[in-house]
Amino acid sequence: MDDHRPLRTFGRIKARTLKPRQAGLMETLLPHLAVPAEGEIDVAQLFSPSPLVGEGGVGGVSAALSSFGADTPTPNPAPQGGGELVLEIGFGGGEHLVAQAIANPATRFIGVEPFLNGVASCLRHIEEANARNIRLHQGDARDVIARLPDASLDFVYVLFPDPWPKMRHHKRRLIQPEFLDDLARVMKPGAELRFATDWANYASWTLEQVTRDARFAWLAERAADWRNAWPGHVTTRYETKKLGDCAPIWLRFERA
Ligand SMILES: C[S@@+](CC[C@H](N)C(=O)[O-])C[C@H]1O[C@@H](n2cnc3c(N)ncnc32)[C@H](O)[C@@H]1O
Repeated sequence: MDDHRPLRTFGRIKARTLKPRQAGLMETLLPHLAVPAEGEIDVAQLFSPSPLVGEGGVGGVSAALSSFGADTPTPNPAPQGGGELVLEIGFGGGEHLVAQAIANPATRFIGVEPFLNGVASCLRHIEEANARNIRLHQGDARDVIARLPDASLDFVYVLFPDPWPKMRHHKRRLIQPEFLDDLARVMKPGAELRFATDWANYASWTLEQVTRDARFAWLAERAADWRNAWPGHVTTRYETKKLGDCAPIWLRFERA
């Protein structure tokens, strides 16, 4: 694949050693949920029963989850047919991703996160929730976006991205003109980009970048629209830490 990205946008990709249960899920569950490492992503195929395990309609994800979470209280069946497709970029520990997947069982979710411990944490949440409508990629979201079909996404979440507050690091921020080019290609007309940050400069940076791109329209009509989270928001782990320099700012943009 072309190295289309000039700079790394994330920090560490590994912290403490994984607990045995999480390490086990990385070995056994992740292969059933993983976005293929190369080639154009066939979304229907990605969410169809995996050939890795099972025959006769028993899918890999279902089989793999059943072997872990047979007694989970909230079975969440794999979506049949083509539900909406949502991409969450930098899902951290996966709390938001899994909560959304449980709340919207007919929707298909792709989560991307380079941080190993975050991916392992997300697998634990997926197993506990018995969520079958999530696929994961451990790595850079830009690699996934580059391989998605045109006009395939209904929603994109970028929640509390790495702020890179020092001016000399602004070039590492995820929101850049090239990133918007890639997003514009894969978002359907009318699809929504949802961005949140608690760093004032990153909010104004994002507003400036996105509003000068004619392919996106900022959906705010009044101050409450950027001061309050959108309906159905699930608090993220980073959000609760309040590490930024302002209250969270919530930006919704529509793909024209
Ligand atoms: C500050 S954390 C926030 C995590 C989570 N969204 C939350 O609110 O709790 C930002 C996350 O974005 C991830 N990230 C940064 N650049 C990324 C990229 N290019 N693709 C995917 N994830 C990325 C980082 O690894 C990190 O886990």
